[in-house]
Amino acid sequence: MAETMREFRLAAHPRGRALEDGDFSLVEVPRPAPGPGEVLLKLRWLAFEPAQKGWMENFGDYVAPMAIGDVMRGIGLGEVIESRNPALPVGTLLTGMTGWREYVVTDGEGYDAVEPALPPTAMLSLLGLTGLTAWVGLFRVGKPVTGDTVLVSGAAGATGSIVGQLARIAGCRTIGIAGGEAKCRWLTEEAGFDVALDYKAGDLKAQLRAAAPGGVHVAYDNVGGPTLDAMLGVIAHGARVVICGGISRYETGGKPTGPGNYFNLVMRRATMGGFIVFDHAADYPDIRRRLTALALAGSLRWQVDEQTGFENAPATLRRLFEGANFGKQVLRIS
Ligand SMILES: NC(=O)c1ccc[n+]([C@@H]2O[C@H](COP(=O)([O-])OP(=O)(O)OC[C@H]3O[C@@H](n4cnc5c(N)ncnc54)[C@H](OP(=O)(O)O)[C@@H]3O)[C@@H](O)[C@H]2O)c1
Repeated sequence: MAETMREFRLAAHPRGRALEDGDFSLVEVPRPAPGPGEVLLKLRWLAFEPAQKGWMENFGDYVAPMAIGDVMRGIGLGEVIESRNPALPVGTLLTGMTGWREYVVTDGEGYDAVEPALPPTAMLSLLGLTGLTAWVGLFRVGKPVTGDTVLVSGAAGATGSIVGQLARIAGCRTIGIAGGEAKCRWLTEEAGFDVALDYKAGDLKAQLRAAAPGGVHVAYDNVGGPTLDAMLGVIAHGARVVICGGISRYETGGKPTGPGNYFNLVMRRATMGGFIVFDHAADYPDIRRRLTALALAGSLRWQVDEQTGFENAPATLRRLFEGANFGKQVLRIS
């Protein structure tokens, strides 16, 4: 009997509602075999991004739409277990858009080799989409200068935690907003943020006014909704507001809530800009080199939240929207 493998397919578009088990179907299919020039990757880890829910909804036009029955789109890291490509021998670790499946065949196009000097999961976290996003959003859109105060929401998350640390390394004062005491403690005690504010502990606007009496020069937002509104309330003259993500939108009927406080951009002569990290793909190797050097010098901390078991992929994605993840959400699948 031919060998089989499991894969998750899209079963429903979760528009305007939380993710449900019925949005995914787990199917058993024949395991593919590599042709000439190809390799068979056995997936070791999957990485999870809030954007995956947007991809399932077909929200936005920056990636191809997903159809019902498509293999669930996602980034994975796998090991070559069968090779018909001399450049990719058995044992090579590769990361790319594998989808949620246990094995995948590739010729290596669109895949990246794993940085050998760091643990493999760094390629999904610090050196993955989230670390790259932190770098691009902070330096290309936020443009911090030494002495600035940089405010970050979703600060204990995979992206936000790197943003704050890069800002600190660039000579800025850093303020992070996160949910809960444990995440806030990690921000100040481990990640070196100057101040951490718990948005679940009460009046965020008042906490921000106390933490940034002179205003913030860069406001890096991962969250949207009331948090963005509160952040806009403390921008300094000439501030740059970076719109990286709006995770609060995903569970609230789809459309993001507009900031009521946007007129402060006029009063403070500030700018607000968005970006998509994929537009900067040509710079990934250079950014990865810089992040690796900082990590090896001991200047950056990053957390990986590892769940286990391929069948738990849908539940693992949901953790991002529940704030259950502490650091980059990954799933170890073998
Ligand atoms: N523009 C781009 O190209 C790009 C690329 C990659 C990622 N992103 C965006 O970057 C952001 C962070 O992504 P990530 O992968 O690093 O995830 P993450 O921050 O590691 O995890 C998501 C975190 O969001 C917080 N959260 C969830 N629901 C929330 C709500 N309703 N209100 C406030 N906070 C909420 C939770 O933290 P707490 O426990 O602190 O609430 C949760 O842990 C996302 O918005 C993502 O879409 C943008």
